[in-house]
Amino acid sequence: MSKSLFRVKPVEPAPHVDAGEPVEGSLQGEATLKRTLTARHLVLLGMGAVIGAGIFVLTGQAAANHAGPAIMLSFVLAGFACALAGLCYAEFSALLPVSGSAYSYSYATLGEFVAWFIGWCLVLEYLFASSTVAVGWSGYFVSFLTTTLGIPFPAELAGAPIAWEDGGFVRTENMFNLPAVMIVAAVSGLCYVGITQSAFVNGIVVAIKTAVIAAFIGIGFFYVDPSNWTPFIPENTGPGQFGMDGVFRAATIVFFAYIGFDAVSTAAGEAKNPQRDMPIGILGSLAICTIIYIAVCAVLTGMMPYTELGTAKPVATALEPYANLAWLKTAVEIGAIAGLSSVILVMLMAQPRIFYTMSRDGLLPKLFGRVHPKHQTPYVGTIIVGIAACLLAGLMPLSVLGELVSMGTLIAFATVCLGVLVLRYTRPELHRPFRVPAANIICPMGFLACMFLFFQSFPEHWKLFVGWTAVGMVIYFAYGYRNSKLNRA
Ligand code: ALA
Repeated sequence: MSKSLFRVKPVEPAPHVDAGEPVEGSLQGEATLKRTLTARHLVLLGMGAVIGAGIFVLTGQAAANHAGPAIMLSFVLAGFACALAGLCYAEFSALLPVSGSAYSYSYATLGEFVAWFIGWCLVLEYLFASSTVAVGWSGYFVSFLTTTLGIPFPAELAGAPIAWEDGGFVRTENMFNLPAVMIVAAVSGLCYVGITQSAFVNGIVVAIKTAVIAAFIGIGFFYVDPSNWTPFIPENTGPGQFGMDGVFRAATIVFFAYIGFDAVSTAAGEAKNPQRDMPIGILGSLAICTIIYIAVCAVLTGMMPYTELGTAKPVATALEPYANLAWLKTAVEIGAIAGLSSVILVMLMAQPRIFYTMSRDGLLPKLFGRVHPKHQTPYVGTIIVGIAACLLAGLMPLSVLGELVSMGTLIAFATVCLGVLVLRYTRPELHRPFRVPAANIICPMGFLACMFLFFQSFPEHWKLFVGWTAVGMVIYFAYGYRNSKLNRA
């Protein structure tokens, strides 16, 4: 049995994949999805997935409670860990342009059991992230409705019915989070209709949020008071509160802001020229987002003392003292609402594609592998994922969802770093259109950086993570292990 747990799926990549061309091969069986995406689409998909709740919601708390102006440094640190993982994703996704992302890469290198575990962690990343961001979206939306437009909205329909307190769930006065459910349902409908339509809408939304952020940076720059930047790293006041300790703690929080660049790799099965374009999509979006984040943080902490930024909408908060910038504050709120929608979109596109690949491998029931005859999307998986994401968004609190997302993502990133190195040794002869430079150094560094962030950050909800893993194991042994195509072969 232990041998079959570590059975690997042979890697036989085609030398080149053309648009619409059906490709045979052990990991390229997914060519029934449409190959329509270009490098530009992929960069925009990355930006669509990345720029969201992390910068629009979490930055303020991280600066006010943990890092002060050195939140910029926290973004550099988290970005560094993601860049190492991003290089590894780029190598894999050009070599294996399939929809399964880290799951497929693990299957090809570390064996079926690890692959299942990673696939299961990716559910935390994509499905749970879409719900997390939907809850953040709901916060911005309700605040815009009530304070900016003056339209009342019942509070009990805008929050989760449970909260996490003292190591367990307690009941709140809310019924459920209606706006969060509505945005997930609407975006799921778009994903059902098609990836080209989804990529088109994503492009528009990314344009809006990028324009708003550019305006904030460009105009806010003139309102910066450099004295707000000193002391750059405020003195430590307790564990995780300021000093270098606080900078690291803030890095684990703002890591969430980078999650999503890897979602680009789930579109590899639909990229026209994945060998060339996947590295551009992944590394390009990551580089652009890192620059944007550091600039936003510089302006944010320069415009207002960091102690006043601890709100749920810090970018708008920084503009509040300036009556002449009220229009920009409204634009920022609209940009955030749009920006968060595109994160939900890309995450909800990614999850069914992972399930699709797992189902093709026999590890999940066949219905997840069904492709719509007209829209050519994995429509059954899209519907199931949509329903699950609606339930989570409507019922679960933001803090629990957010931490689970980061935990699942860090494990997936660390495994991909390891996988690249393993494949370099087990299949050195494979043609790699993109190679991680100095892989013997970069891959272990990426692995260690992700594990460092994992162990730094999650004292609270690790039991939930263990529970999630246990459920995954039960499903694997009850279904996946027996039905695996490799098993039957
Ligand atoms: N990076 C995404 C966000 O910040 C998940 O919303």
